[in-house]
This record gives sequence, structure tokens and C-alpha cells, in this order.
Amino acid sequence: MKKIRIADGIHMLTMNVEDILFEGIWEIANGVTLNSFIVQGEKTAIIDGVINWDGIPETLYRNLEEIGVDPNDIDYLIVNHMEPDHSGWISNFRKIKEDFTIICTDKAAKMVSSFYGEDKIRVVKEGDTLDLGKGKVLSFHPVPNVHWPDTMYTFETSTKTLFSCDMFGTFGRMGEHFFDDELTDEEMEFFEFEGIRYYSNVMTTFTPSLRKALEKARQLNASIIAPGHGPVYRKNPNKIMDDYYRFSQYADGKGKNEVTILWGSMYGMTKKAVDFVEGILKREGVKYNKLQMPLESDSEMVATVFKSAAVIIAAPTYEYKLFPPVAAALDEIGRKRITGKTAFRFGSYGWSGGAEKELKEIIERNNMKWDFIDSVEFEGAPKEGHLEKIEKAVLKLIEKIKDKIVE
Ligand SMILES: Cc1cc2nc3c(=O)[nH]c(=O)nc-3n(C[C@H](O)[C@H](O)[C@H](O)COP(=O)(O)O)c2cc1C
Ligand SMILES: [Fe+2]
Ligand SMILES: [Fe+2]
Repeated sequence: MKKIRIADGIHMLTMNVEDILFEGIWEIANGVTLNSFIVQGEKTAIIDGVINWDGIPETLYRNLEEIGVDPNDIDYLIVNHMEPDHSGWISNFRKIKEDFTIICTDKAAKMVSSFYGEDKIRVVKEGDTLDLGKGKVLSFHPVPNVHWPDTMYTFETSTKTLFSCDMFGTFGRMGEHFFDDELTDEEMEFFEFEGIRYYSNVMTTFTPSLRKALEKARQLNASIIAPGHGPVYRKNPNKIMDDYYRFSQYADGKGKNEVTILWGSMYGMTKKAVDFVEGILKREGVKYNKLQMPLESDSEMVATVFKSAAVIIAAPTYEYKLFPPVAAALDEIGRKRITGKTAFRFGSYGWSGGAEKELKEIIERNNMKWDFIDSVEFEGAPKEGHLEKIEKAVLKLIEKIKDKIVE
């Protein structure tokens, strides 16, 4: 765990978490950070906590003492969001200290009580404040359904620091750099993709609520944005707000100028056409990503499809339906409400097909509203005529996404 000074009387405790399935699903290749913040006036508040605090209260003691905070002096525990990646340590903290007040929204209060049996709770509403003394005043701003219904922002008014919890978070471990102005170009790029991975894996379903939360953040006019996951933005807090706006557009069909080939093949018949398509994309100078299912992790798959303006689905018929790993991938994309992508499918079949019918069912069932170019299906290996049709469709796809590019 690292201890970082954000401003006078404001510190961050941050730790990297690796080798977990985030939410029990997402295999996050580059880890994630859990950030917790401590604000000291005459009174002391701790905002959000971390789940893996090794469960030992003494470790918590030591970390707090190293930044000059006596755990016994903590008066308020602010729960911006009840999800246990932020609040899972409440019970451990209770073991070392009896008399602190939890501050959260009404919806969080219900959960804090049902998950941890806590009842010493002060419920806050939009604009409520907490004066910690020495000029440190916290204000609270609910942002419902930024992930869960209970979420709120905490804003420190003297330094204009926005503690945004899940909002403006990214996946990706932090090394020695914690602030946007410290990040190298390479690290900036790393966190941009990890931001996309985080948004698409965890947040995209809630895009309409995130847009409202983004508006609220802009109104607060923060000088520092300090999220619960990933770096702190103090040089240019607008960067992460603009990024989040762009990600929200990827959720409904816009994307980078990239084509993603989501493909699977049992005996290589469909793969022949995938290889052919790759040749076309190379020739046309189009950036493309290949996701072979089921080899790719869901985390990588969802993030890559999400950020691309165009998707090529290449999959054969399997037991009268779409090749299952590709069907499962599309269903996952649909559950995440990633809508409006421009797409094209081709694939092989042995006798009567069936893949196409299931593809349509998945798109309909999830109300995905994807814009499809007519599919090309072929019996066994693709023949010259099929490849010609595929080439035309790919060129049409590249043309079609031109007004949907947001980089
Ligand atoms: C387990 C299995 C199930 C299949 N089910 C069907 C089917 O229901 N309908 C059909 O037309 N072809 C079916 N086929 C034939 C494949 O669609 C055909 O072999 C196709 O060329 C496979 O393309 P691939 O080499 O890209 O995997 C099946 C093949 C396998 C191995
Ligand atoms: Fe969350
Ligand atoms: Fe979180």
C-alpha cells in the first residue's frame, strides 16, 4: 500500500490488486488499484476503503499512523458507494474503533446496515455539508446508478477536490506515478485502454446515469479529480471527463477508426475467409483487432468490441446455431447494452446452416440495434464468389463507419 499526499490535509492510500476476477467475472490482465482518501481538519474523515486490507486491523493502524493519522481520531467514514471493493473493510475498522459515524446516501444506508449490520449512520442528500474544521468542508452529491443506486460524490470545497469513487475510474495497476502530470506518454496510453476496459466491463450498462453524473462533475468545476480506481487528475481534470464522454459515445455505436474481427472456427473453413479479410484490411490500411473466441478473455473481448466502430463477426454453424463461444460473446456485449455498432457477418456451414438465425435472435433479444451489412454464408470452404461478396461487404463497412469515428 502506498501513501500519497494530494493537498494539505488530504492523503490517498492506494494499493494494487492483481490476480482477481473483478466482480467475480472480469479477468483484468493489468490489475486494478483501490484508492482510499483521508481528509484532516480538526476532525478526520476517511472516504472509501479497500477490500484486501489483508483483513488485519493492525496493518490499517500502521498505514494510517505513517501519514500521521491516529485511527482513534477518525470521526467519519464516508461511503461514496457501498460495493465491497470500497466498503469491505468497515467491519475490520469497527474492530479497532467503536465510535465513528458512517456518512452515505439513504440507499447506501440500507445496504451498509444489511451487509455489515451497521446502524450509526448519517444519511446525506444533495448539497449537504460536513465541516471538518481548519477550512476543510465536504459536500455530498448523489450520483445514482453510477454503478449502484447508492453512489454519491464527495467534494472538498477548499481544494475543489472531487472524490468520485467509481466514476472516472480506470483499471490498471499504478507503479510510481499517481497523478496525471507524472504519467509518461506510454502510461497515458496504458490508462486510456485500461479506462476503456473498466468503462466497458463495469460501467457501460449505466451510461445514461453516467452522463448525468458527468454533467454534475462539470458543474462542480473540480480542480482535482480523485477516483476510487486509477490515477488522480490535477493537471487537467477535463481530460478524464472528456474521455468518459467519449466512452459513453462508444456505448451507443460510435468508436475508434478500428475494425474488430470477432471470430471462431472449428476446422478452419471460416478461418480461410478471416485470413482473406485480414489481407483486405491490411491493403486498405485499416487498423484492426482479432479476437479468437473462446481464447480471448471476456474483459479483453468486451473492451475491444466496445471501442471499435466496426465489428466483423466470423463464425460457423454449430448444432443448428451460431458457434457457441461467439454467440456467448455477442450475448455478453448485448447484456452490456453496447448498441448501434456497424457490423458484418460471414461463416461456413455443413448442410442447412442456422448460425444466421441465432445471430438475429441475439441482436433482437438484447435490443442491440446494430447496423448489419448482408451476411455471406458458404457451404464448406469459401469459393471465389463468396470472397468477392465478402470483399465488397468489408469495403462497404469501412465506408459506413466514417461518420461514426470518435478517437
Ligand atoms: C459439432 C458440430 C456441429 C455442427 N452443426 C452443424 C449444423 O447444425 N448445421 C450445419 O449446417 N452444419 C453444422 N456443422 C458443420 C459446420 O458448420 C461445418 O463443418 C463448417 O464448415 C465449420 O466451419 P469451420 O471450419 O469454420 O468451423 C457442425 C459441425 C460440427 C463439428
Ligand atoms: Fe462499483
Ligand atoms: Fe469500484
